Formats: sequence, C-alpha cells, structure tokens
Amino acid sequence: MKLSFSVKYRTEVIFLKRISDLWRDVDGVDICFLIDSSLKTKFQDLPCERVYYFSGEKDKHLSKAESCFEWLIECKAGRKTVLAVIGGGATTDFGAFVASVYNRGMELVLVPTTLLSAVDSAIGGKTAVNFVAKNLIGSYYPASKVIIVKEFFDSLDMKMIRSGKAEMIKVALLNNGRLLEKVLSGEDLLNEECISLAIMEKYEIIRSDVTDTSGKRMVLNWGHTFGHAIERYSGAPHGLAIAAGMVLMQKYSAYLGYRSFPYEELEKMLKLHGIEHDLLLYVKDSKWLKFIALDKKRNLEEISMVYLKDSGCAGVINRNLNDILKDLEELR
Ligand code: GLY
Repeated sequence: MKLSFSVKYRTEVIFLKRISDLWRDVDGVDICFLIDSSLKTKFQDLPCERVYYFSGEKDKHLSKAESCFEWLIECKAGRKTVLAVIGGGATTDFGAFVASVYNRGMELVLVPTTLLSAVDSAIGGKTAVNFVAKNLIGSYYPASKVIIVKEFFDSLDMKMIRSGKAEMIKVALLNNGRLLEKVLSGEDLLNEECISLAIMEKYEIIRSDVTDTSGKRMVLNWGHTFGHAIERYSGAPHGLAIAAGMVLMQKYSAYLGYRSFPYEELEKMLKLHGIEHDLLLYVKDSKWLKFIALDKKRNLEEISMVYLKDSGCAGVINRNLNDILKDLEELR
C-alpha cells in the first residue's frame, strides 16, 4: 500500500515602504506579534498582551519556545491565529519554528528586518532553535506571507547591508541569471528589483528540494564550512563571514586541483559591492581552524564542502576534517 500526501505551501512576498503601512489591513485579524526586542520603540502602539519580545540568537532555544507557547495559550491562540514575526534571521528562525509546531501549525507571517533575512532566512521555510548544536532542532514551514519593509533597512549599518549583499552575490553566482548581470554591472543591490531577483533566484534553487534531501538546496551552503568557523571566531556578520568562506573555498578547491571559479574574480566582484573582505585577515592566524572542528562536532568525519565550478554550477568536495586542517595550514 502506498499513501501519498501532498502538502502545498504558498508564500506571497510583499514590499512596503513604511513600518506604519504594516498595520493597514489587520483590523479584525486575530494576530499575535513576536518581535525582536531591539525594535521595542517602533511598536509601542500594539496591545502589549499580544506582543512577545525576543532577544536574538541567545534566546533561540527550546525553553524560550516553551515560554512562547505559554504566551500563545494565554492569548487563546488557535490554528487560525496569525503569528507575525518581526526581526532578523534568529527571530524569524525561532518564530517560524514556534508557528510550525503550535497546534501543529498556525498561520505565519514573517517581517524580516535585515537585508540578509529578507533574501535568505525568511525565504524557503527553514525553521530552527539551537539545541546541543546550532539549528539542530527545526522543521520546514514556509510562511504564508513575507513582508519586506524598506524603512527597516534605512537604519541598518553598512556592515549589515553588506552582509545581505554578500548573500545576494552568492545566490547570483549559483544561479547565473539576471541578478548576476546586476551584480557585475556594479549597481547598488539595495533596491526592490534586486531583492526580488535574489528571492526568486533562491526560490529557483530550492523549489524542487524544499526539504534539502536531493542535494539541490545544499548548494546554498557554499562557503559555509569555513564561513561558520570564521563567524564563530570573529563575530563577523553571517553574510560577510560566509563571503570570506566562499573566497577561501574557491582558493582551496583550486589548490586541491579542481576546476573552480577563480577566487580573484570573486574577490573583485565582492569588492565592487563594498565587501572588502578584510575577513581573510582573521584567517591569517590559525586559531579559527579549531572552530571548523567545533562546528562539525565530529573530528574525523568527512565533510561535504560546496564550491563553485563556474557561474551557475556548483560542486561538492568530500574530505576528512583532519586532512582539511592540514591542507589549510599549508595553504595559508
Ligand atoms: N540558508 C540556506 C537555505 O535556506 O537552505
């Protein structure tokens, strides 16, 4: 006997100019708000019993989720209640996780407040909390709406903008479509057209592999093996650390003899968008290497690393962690 279930998800992406535009159509809607605590002052008009504040990565754990479920119960939230999640990547990961399991799924609206979360974590349905390892517990639960409000980006500092742009450049190179033309032209990527392209191109990559099982979605992990270690070591914003990880991965794949997109070209492309990756400075001392092992938790295991063969074409290199560490010592 074969039982076939199909679950259909549909995400509508909406662009708004101002934060005040967010509340135009919500009169009479049963809605609870999970909001990044750094945005408190922007949302003082909301009914306080309907607002739950979240403090980013350090709150992204199961006991916080429990406390959030208790709040939802107090709010008498049901399956039709909308959970509106407003914040950066940690907040949207956490809020989406809560929405995916409360009552076996409530309606989820994401309002990403950083460029990076708008083009990455809010798109594609990954949810997560940290437990033992980063993002170990989670589910796939695409939001029914993603609302991108330009006003949030106006107050981001340049590092955060560049972090989002680095992610856009990654997707552009993986997809080799219209966004790459924009990237190569040097046009400022912080506009609705480029953000829409980045979202569509990420969607193109993941649509046939939402649950990350066939290997198609995995290409988005380009730069992550080294990038995560650099992020943990340096505290650099995620997108910038991944950009440094991408450059290093290109250099490393060439060193191993693979045909790969030249790292110098990637560096040039990043530089054109203000991403001078002084991050490779961090890589000059070897202390960050131990974070690769920490990130993976298992010392001798083979690690799958995504690299770019050419624009629009990624490959995977599998290598034992100890060998990687030895190679990198030589490569520096
Ligand atoms: N951030 C990578 C992914 O959505 O799969």
